[in-house]
Amino acid sequence: MDCLKKKILSEGLVLSETVLKVDSFLNHQLDPSLMMEIGKEFAKRFHHQKISKVLTIETSGIAPAFATALVLNVPLVFARKQKTVTMDTDCYTAEVHSFTKNTTHTITISKKFLSADDHILLIDDFLANGEAAMGLIQLVEQAGATVVGIGIVIEKSFQPGARKIKEKGYPVESLVQIASLQNGTVQFLNEVNHYE
Ligand code: G4P
Repeated sequence: MDCLKKKILSEGLVLSETVLKVDSFLNHQLDPSLMMEIGKEFAKRFHHQKISKVLTIETSGIAPAFATALVLNVPLVFARKQKTVTMDTDCYTAEVHSFTKNTTHTITISKKFLSADDHILLIDDFLANGEAAMGLIQLVEQAGATVVGIGIVIEKSFQPGARKIKEKGYPVESLVQIASLQNGTVQFLNEVNHYE
């Protein structure tokens, strides 16, 4: 997705060999036009699938997931990292450890928003170690629903997440794949998919 690559090159900041800062359009300030392009692209890539809901995890997954759900005309559900006072007690939960932040969250979804006949498209902003995606997959499995695919805005292909998820048999569509963040520069993976 060329417009996303251009945005990363012009506004992204390589903080270390593993972390890319993109808070001017994805993680803090949002670029709504770019989010809509992202939503259209995910809808196009998964157009052959029957999708009843889009699922993501708060916070930064919500914007691209919202745009995708809008284009697909289906509801968006986001898993919470902390229970709210109004939240139902009847919930699906999974543990998600972040290697990037060295934190662990119990992610939660009210049972009323996921049912066995749902066909779920998972969307997230980053794919690094795959912990968030695996946690979301667990929630869907607890409900007896089906994961039809996983859409990722920025895949860091030098980390193990994408490979782990593909090995479990889930189709992953990443809008950009980053091969390396070494020497302070973003190097994209060739358009060829190296996992297959
Ligand atoms: P994983 O889910 O693939 O295993 O990723 P990991 O635990 O390593 O990352 C946890 C958090 O760090 C996630 O955000 C993820 O989006 C973010 N993250 C991982 N790598 C990068 C990176 O290179 N750049 C940026 N900007 N973020 C990265 P989170 O804690 O859920 O944050 P938020 O969604 O609440 O904003």
